[in-house]
Amino acid sequence: MKLPGPSYVNDTFYGVADLNSAIEARGALIDQIRVKSGIFAADNLMTWDKTLGFIREEAFATAVNAHTRPGPERAAVWRYNTLVWAARQAAPLEGDFVECACYRGNTARIVADLVDISNRRYFLYDLFDHDETMPHHAMPAHSKTLYDEVRARFPEPNVIITQGRVPESLAIASPEKIALMHIDMNNVDAEIGALEVLWDRVAPGGVVVLDDYGWLAYHRQHFAERDWFKARGQFVLELPTGQGLVVKHG
Ligand SMILES: C[S@@+](CC[C@H](N)C(=O)[O-])C[C@H]1O[C@@H](n2cnc3c(N)ncnc32)[C@H](O)[C@@H]1O
Repeated sequence: MKLPGPSYVNDTFYGVADLNSAIEARGALIDQIRVKSGIFAADNLMTWDKTLGFIREEAFATAVNAHTRPGPERAAVWRYNTLVWAARQAAPLEGDFVECACYRGNTARIVADLVDISNRRYFLYDLFDHDETMPHHAMPAHSKTLYDEVRARFPEPNVIITQGRVPESLAIASPEKIALMHIDMNNVDAEIGALEVLWDRVAPGGVVVLDDYGWLAYHRQHFAERDWFKARGQFVLELPTGQGLVVKHG
C-alpha cells in the first residue's frame, strides 16, 4: 500500500493468525483515517496523525534504505530512529559506542553513517555462527563467513569486532568508558551479563537502548532488566517500538 508521505507501511507483522487477513484489516482501518499521511504501520506498531520526523529526514532514510533489506529488516525503521537518537544524544560525551550484538551489522552501520565516530571506537560483538549448545536461536545469516562479511561492512579501523559469547568475550576487547550501549541479544543471561560488566563504565548521561525490552516474547528480559536497573536507581522507559531506554544519571 503506497500512501502520500510521510507515511510508512510495511507488511511485517508478527504473531497474527493470518497475515493476508491482517493486511486487509489494516487497509480497512487506513480507509477510515481522514488524513492519509503521517501513518505508520510496521513491526507490530500502528499509529496515525504523527509527524514521523525521522522519515522526513533524508540522511536517515538514505542510511536505512542503504543498510537494510526490504521486509522485516526495514520494518524496524522506528527502532532505528530510537538508536540514532541515542547515538546523537551520546555523541558529545566522552566514551566509546558498544553493540551487543550486531548480527549482520545493520544497526551499527546505520549509526556509523549518521554519527561521526572518528573520535571514538565502536565495539561490536556477536557469535556470528550458530552453535546448538548456545541459548540463542539461529538466525538466517549465521554462518562461518558472517564475521568476515560484517568486517567488510566496516572499513573504519576504530570499529572493533569481537566474535564470541558475551559476556565472556568482553574480556577479549572492551571499552573503559562508554557513551552508548545497544543491547540486542534476545537472551536474558547474556544481556544481564553484559550489564554487569559494562554498566559501571557508562558515562553519566550515557544512553542504553535495550532492543528486546518491550517484546512479549522476551518478557524474561523485561522483568530482569527492569529490576536490575531499579536496584541501581534507574528506570527503563518502555517504548512502543518494543525497545527500552535508559539515560544514566548525571
Ligand atoms: C537480533 S540479532 C542482532 C541484530 C542487530 N542488532 C541489528 O539489528 O542489526 C541478535 C544477535 O545476538 C547474537 N547473540 C545472542 N546471544 C549472544 C551472546 N551470548 N553473545 C554474543 N552474541 C549473542 C546472535 O548471534 C544474533 O546475531
